[in-house]
Amino acid sequence: MKKVILMLFLGCNVLVFAQSKNIDQKVEALLRQMTLEEKIGQLNQYTGDNAATGPITINPNKQTEIKQGLIGSMLNILGTKYTRQYQELAMQSRLKIPLLFGQDVIHGYKTTFPIPLAEAASWDLEAMELTARIAATEAAAAGIHWAFAPMVDISRDPRWGRVMEGAGEDTYLGFKIAYARVKGFQGNLGDVTSVMACVKHFAAYGAAVGGRDYNSVDMSNRMLWETYLPPFKAALDAGAATFMNSFNDLNGIPATGNAYLQRDILKGKWNFKGFVVSDWGSIGEMVNHGYAKDNKEAALAAITAGSDMDMESNAYRYHLAQLVKEKKVPMALIDDAVKRILRKKFELGLFDDPFKFNNEEREQKALNNPEHRKVARAMAAKSIVLLKNEKGILPLSKSIKTIAFIGPLVKEYKQNMGFWSVELPELDYTKEIVSQWDGLQNKVGKNTQLLYAKGCDIEGDNTEGFAEAIAVANQADVVVLSIGERRDQSGEAKSRSNLRLPGVQEELVKAIQATGKPVVVLINAGRPLIFNWTADQVPAILYTWWLGSEAGNAIADVLFGDYNPSGKLPMSFPREEGQIPIYYNHFNTGRPAPNETATNYVSAYIDLKNSPKFPFGYGLSYTTFNYSDLQLSKKVIKKNETITVSFTLTNTGKFDGEEVVQLYLRDQVGSVVRPIKELRDFQKVFLKAGASQKITFTIDKEKLAFYNAKLEWAPEPGAFEVQLGASSADIRLKDSFELIF
Ligand code: NOJ
Repeated sequence: MKKVILMLFLGCNVLVFAQSKNIDQKVEALLRQMTLEEKIGQLNQYTGDNAATGPITINPNKQTEIKQGLIGSMLNILGTKYTRQYQELAMQSRLKIPLLFGQDVIHGYKTTFPIPLAEAASWDLEAMELTARIAATEAAAAGIHWAFAPMVDISRDPRWGRVMEGAGEDTYLGFKIAYARVKGFQGNLGDVTSVMACVKHFAAYGAAVGGRDYNSVDMSNRMLWETYLPPFKAALDAGAATFMNSFNDLNGIPATGNAYLQRDILKGKWNFKGFVVSDWGSIGEMVNHGYAKDNKEAALAAITAGSDMDMESNAYRYHLAQLVKEKKVPMALIDDAVKRILRKKFELGLFDDPFKFNNEEREQKALNNPEHRKVARAMAAKSIVLLKNEKGILPLSKSIKTIAFIGPLVKEYKQNMGFWSVELPELDYTKEIVSQWDGLQNKVGKNTQLLYAKGCDIEGDNTEGFAEAIAVANQADVVVLSIGERRDQSGEAKSRSNLRLPGVQEELVKAIQATGKPVVVLINAGRPLIFNWTADQVPAILYTWWLGSEAGNAIADVLFGDYNPSGKLPMSFPREEGQIPIYYNHFNTGRPAPNETATNYVSAYIDLKNSPKFPFGYGLSYTTFNYSDLQLSKKVIKKNETITVSFTLTNTGKFDGEEVVQLYLRDQVGSVVRPIKELRDFQKVFLKAGASQKITFTIDKEKLAFYNAKLEWAPEPGAFEVQLGASSADIRLKDSFELIF
């Protein structure tokens, strides 16, 4: 049997190798027929007119240029009908090279899933792979070949609006999620349900100084390799077809013109065979950076550094040919970029059938598949984080007589979609989105009355609606308050210096809490916000992020206990903006604060605790879990040995539920200092009320390794502490072992 499997495996590999050789030959043959202009055309990407996701460079000749073979790819063209129209133009070009259609399919296409940061809170890798798979299926059915996702930028700064697009602050969690999402998007690349992934933004964009978007990044090589690059590597290992570079400069060199990142690391050390697209206008922006004196110099810097495709800068289109003629850009460089792009077009099967992804019937079916909505609802419920639940207010009883549902987000539709959702022009989103109000109405029976008051707007200082909201609250047995950010307050170019709840919303919370009624607050946001009064005074809080198409139903599922919340925060929530950047895996320093009150000559603030308001990995459940009987298989291990860590997890509460058990390691002494703890593994475990399960983790040298003083990835001998817990700050079991060489 084993032999048969092995032969099949070898057979498959031979086939893949043969196909790949075949494609190489086709690419070479095509390249030989191409003029320099046609080659450069392949390196050009323009936006369509559907939606602008950046400052548009007006090009009235797009259609003619496609027919002339001067454009290789388009973005922002939605739907089978329109992508077909553009592809037909490409088919009129001399060599009939198909266009690639790219799109920001970040958290769904027609079915909108929770924003990526929310999904990350589920710590459910299979679920995240599935939502990416469905997003790909829908997008591919609508004529899209290429999703500009996943965004894998680590960020420790919630001021940065783009944290909503990523997996949060932790490298290990980000690494696992990057892998899962690429697998989900790409499925079986080449079939009609798959799209190419585009891993972005390479690199270190999440570390923009001050959390201000597009800002500079200054970072040590150690931090780059240890904290920021691993999720990119994971995406690459998952087979990611393309990468996008980033807007920021890294240590003074714009990422788009950065040869260290793109040539040395990505295409060199990592042997990446796909292509790199610039970010929107980022080639031209090297002029603003002061790295190139004009668009021509910018084109030279970008192509030399390894940016293969120019998104919306018009730099390659107008200057590369001249640069080749002047012998500043060798033809081999152009050829390499073109080959990388053509190869992907062949792999997708576009040369066999350029309209392969344009099938109206399939589009209709995929976009209206009820299964996708079910997955969206389940994913949304899994993404919610229960921050507080005093006196067991939640779950709400289904026999409650009157519920007051108050707040500016209760009856909103599109707000639930969050930033970076795809908006299809012909859709009526009041029919596509389950509002929170509709979700609650769907859930409660005839005997429960639902009352509504808006209370206030998301922004502004108008408190006129408070009186009505208080009156409504007074008539209810329980109040559910839905507050938060507007969906365009987190996202690209949405940095905030002030992370408080916008407008008078926290005043509204105070007014409602003063009625003495039991209050449950739902916080809708694309980032960690600061809401200290609410956190301290209100008994129950659910962090609901932006949950997408099924937001209302999922929130109702959690409020009434049809789904027991299991989300855990993928970012630390600061007490004040002054703590930012804040992250759990910091170094100990030479003067660590022994407790939260000591300030004298220790590393602390004199006016604030060091700890976050809510730590990384934190999240409650309607049930409780007990961790016991920690056992390590050995106390001493050698370099190539493994050690198993096991313990018993018991559901000690009254509800069935899931726990994300987190394994942290601390390397006690290193050739460079090591964090006080680092997430190195986790499992999401479902247990029936009262049930117990033995949980086992295996630690090998990969989990013990880090970039040592010579920047080599390797473990070092010495003592390690094992910490097992329900969050980074709630360690329930500890032990230690020794690694010897
Ligand atoms: C700019 C964003 O940074 C990037 O993530 C996105 O894919 C492009 N615009 C295209 O919309």
